[in-house]
This record gives sequence, structure tokens and C-alpha cells, in this order.
Amino acid sequence: MTLIIAGLLLLSIATCIGLGSGASDPNDVAALRSLMSQLQNPPQTWGKSDDPCGTPWEGVMCSESRVTMLKLSTMGLKGTLSTDIAQITQLHSLDLSYNDLSGTLTPNIGNLKQLSVLILTGCKFSGNIPQELGNLSQLLFLDLSLNQFTGTIPASLGGLSNLYWLDLAKNKLTGSLPVSTRDTPGLDLLKVEQCNLQKNQLSGVIPESLFSSGMKLSRLHLNGNNFTGSIPASIGLVRSLEILYLGGNDLSGSLPFSINNLTNLNELNLANNKLTGPLPNLAQMSSLHTVDLSNNSFDASEAPSWFSTLQSLTTLKIESGGLYGQIPSQMFGLPAIQQVVLKNNAFNGTLSMGNNINQGLMVVDLQNNSISSLKLTASYKHTLILFGNPVCNAVRNSNADFCLEL
Ligand SMILES: *[C@@H]1O[C@H](CO)[C@@H](O)[C@H](O)[C@H]1NC(C)=O
Ligand SMILES: *[C@@H]1O[C@H](CO)[C@@H](O)[C@H](O)[C@H]1NC(C)=O
Ligand SMILES: *[C@@H]1O[C@H](CO)[C@@H](O)[C@H](O)[C@H]1NC(C)=O
Ligand SMILES: *[C@@H]1O[C@H](CO)[C@@H](O)[C@H](O)[C@H]1NC(C)=O
Ligand SMILES: *[C@@H]1O[C@H](CO)[C@@H](O)[C@H](O)[C@H]1NC(C)=O
Ligand SMILES: *[C@@H]1O[C@H](CO)[C@@H](O)[C@H](O)[C@H]1NC(C)=O
Repeated sequence: MTLIIAGLLLLSIATCIGLGSGASDPNDVAALRSLMSQLQNPPQTWGKSDDPCGTPWEGVMCSESRVTMLKLSTMGLKGTLSTDIAQITQLHSLDLSYNDLSGTLTPNIGNLKQLSVLILTGCKFSGNIPQELGNLSQLLFLDLSLNQFTGTIPASLGGLSNLYWLDLAKNKLTGSLPVSTRDTPGLDLLKVEQCNLQKNQLSGVIPESLFSSGMKLSRLHLNGNNFTGSIPASIGLVRSLEILYLGGNDLSGSLPFSINNLTNLNELNLANNKLTGPLPNLAQMSSLHTVDLSNNSFDASEAPSWFSTLQSLTTLKIESGGLYGQIPSQMFGLPAIQQVVLKNNAFNGTLSMGNNINQGLMVVDLQNNSISSLKLTASYKHTLILFGNPVCNAVRNSNADFCLEL
């Protein structure tokens, strides 16, 4: 009996020692301690043992004694990222999002050959995006959005052949979009599903060679930059596109006809540019729910026929679109319609909302048009704005809700 107990005791001591010594790779531990030294407030469980794999350090995950994941999102961490991060050579996933981390991103990060997920969104990293990121051939997911990165987008990112998610939005990136040349890769080579570059200070034209039919792109956000020139016709080759945001740039010229080929689009935003020529024909886009073409210089025209046929349409905004004539009453009865904003146009005559107004319709903003009378044959209880139309000059209407200035 005592012998068995002594034996068990010995065994458990041996197990403890076995775990305590060398359960975590010493190089990984040294690198984590270096990371810790550059944080003003490292996680409380860090540094309490020499074995982050055995006696867990918060957010550190291991496989076979090697640190493979750092998941430290939203922990209020303050400080900088140690260059020794590059010593954790089996790291697959690094998520430091939404912390108070500043300073530059070390080019050494390009040594982390196993890295497939890199998420640094919502920190305060500054300086250039290191071109060495292009060495991370396993990378699937790259999110550097909401930081203060400056400089250009490294062309080397085009070499990330496995990447499916690229998000560099809301930084201070400048320069043009790099496309491949004979000697260098470019963003045209990517097979990403999502590419979000919105709200930077990118400039130059959107290159014709950026788009091709082999792409898998479904969400493209280039809005809120300083792109110039016209929208390249090659955009029509990317049939997989579901969301296309090009608003808030300096784009000019008329839209390429090929844009009509993007029949899988759900959302289209071209607002706040200097586009000219006819309004696009969106009639074939049967899944389209959100459209904003406001504040361009399109040719004056009557309401296009797709105003009354797009069955998925929830939100239509065309402010200052040069539209005149009658607003088709059918559009207020579209099955999904919620919001119609057509202010600062020249719609005239009588506004009739039809007999079949969708109960989900919440806002009809027709401020500052030339509408001279209103015919309501069905009840509509939500917001209608006709302020700034001749119909509101009539004494009997001037106090009506629809004539109030909001
Ligand atoms: C890493 O990237 C840099 C810059 O893009 C490049 O010069 C270097 O050859 C790459 N190194 C490896 C090992 O791929
Ligand atoms: C980009 O556009 C913004 C807003 O139109 C402007 O303030 C800024 O000066 C432009 N930047 C460049 C680099 O052209
Ligand atoms: C758009 O589609 C039409 C017919 O569906 C085709 O003839 C045309 O080549 C396409 N254009 C582009 C740029 O894909
Ligand atoms: C159109 O431009 C006006 C004036 O610059 C701006 O206030 C409004 O928000 C713009 N509309 C849209 C939909 O962006
Ligand atoms: C009314 O709309 C026209 C464009 O049709 C625009 O030029 C004008 O500034 C708008 N007025 C107001 C008060 O918004
Ligand atoms: C509406 O405006 C158009 C273009 O200015 C004009 O031809 C038409 O007669 C107007 N319709 C009404 C009912 O005022």
C-alpha cells in the first residue's frame, strides 16, 4: 500500500517536472518576454511562469510546445510591438486588434513564414506598411485597417497568392494602386474576395489592368480616396462583384457600358465624384438593394425604367442627379423599398405615390425639386419631404408636415 502511494507520488512529481521543464520552447518564451517588456500593461497572467504553453498566459495558444497563436484583441494593451515577434517562428495567427499599440510594424514580420492570419485593426501603428509582408506566402487574412500607416501600398502584397481578405482601410496611405509589371507583382494578381482600401489618400487612376475575369472579388471598397480618371471598362469582367464602392473620389468621364454586366451587385455607390454621361442602366442587376449615385454630373434625364422594376431595391439615393419629369409611382410600391432620396433634382408635375405604397417605406426625400402638386390615394404615414418644391408655396400646404424644413 505505502509502496503504491509512494510510487504515485513519485510519478506525479515526475509529471510536474516533465511539464515544468521545456514544455514551452525557450526561444518562444524569450520572445514573449521581449513583447511583454514593451507593453506598459501586459496581461496579468503573463510572466507568472516560464511555460506559457503549460501554465497558460492569456491569449497565448500553443501546439507541440510551440506558440502558434496570439489572440490579444481588445485588452487595452499600451505600448509598441517588439521586433522579437519575428522569433516566434511557428506563429500562425497574430491578432492584436483594438489596442493602444503604436510605433512602426517591424519588417521582421516577413520572417514569420507560417503566418496565415494578421489582424492589427484599430491600433495606432504608423510608418510604412513593410514590403516584407509580401513574403508571408501562407497569409490568408490581412487586416491593417484603422491605423495611421503612411506611404504607399507595397506592390509585394500582390505576391500573396493565398490571400482572400485584404483590408487597409482608414489609414493615411498615398500614391497609386500598384499593378504588376514584367518584374514586379501588383494587386491585379490577388485572388481576394474582399479588398477594402477606403478612406485613405490614394490617388492616380484606377488602372485598367487591375481587373480581370479570373478574379474572385466580391467586395471592393475604394471610396473616400483621391482617385481620378474614368472607371475602367475592365470592371465589367469581375462578374463576382457584389459590393462596389467608388464614391467620394475625383472620378470623371462617363461610366463604361460594361458596368451593366455586373449582374450580381447588391450595393453600388458612385456618389460624390464628377461622373458625366448617362445614368447607368441597372435593369439587369436583380439583386441590387442599395444604390447611391448622388452628386455627380450625369446628363439630365427622366427617371430610368429600373426605378420601378428592381425588386430587391431598399435604398435609392440620387441627389443632384439632373432628373426631371414624373417620378414613377410604381417605385413606392417596390417590394423591398425603404428609402428614396432624390433631393436637388428637377422632378416636376404631380407627385403620385400610387395605390400600393410599401408599408416598409420610411423616407421619401424630394426636397428642392419642381413638384407642383401632390396626389395621395393610399395612406402613407412615414416621412415625406417636399420642402423647396412649388407645392409648398400654396397657402393651404405651407403648414403641412411634408412642407416642413428638416
Ligand atoms: C522578403 O521581402 C523582401 C522585400 O520585398 C525581398 O527583398 C526579400 O527577397 C524577401 N525575402 C525572402 C526570403 O523571401
Ligand atoms: C485628397 O482629397 C481631399 C478631399 O477632396 C483633399 O483635401 C486632399 O488635399 C487631397 N489630397 C491629395 C493628395 O490630393
Ligand atoms: C457584357 O456582356 C455582354 C453580353 O452579356 C457582352 O457582349 C460584353 O462583352 C460584356 N462586356 C464586358 C466588358 O464584359
Ligand atoms: C451631396 O453633396 C452634399 C453637399 O456637398 C452633401 O451634403 C451630401 O451629403 C451629399 N450627398 C450624399 C448622398 O453623399
Ligand atoms: C436645389 O437643387 C439644385 C440642383 O437641382 C442645386 O443647384 C441647388 O443648390 C439646390 N438648392 C438648395 C437650397 O439645396
Ligand atoms: C417637366 O419638365 C420638363 C423638362 O423641363 C418639361 O418638358 C415638362 O413639360 C414639365 N412637365 C410639367 C408637368 O411641368
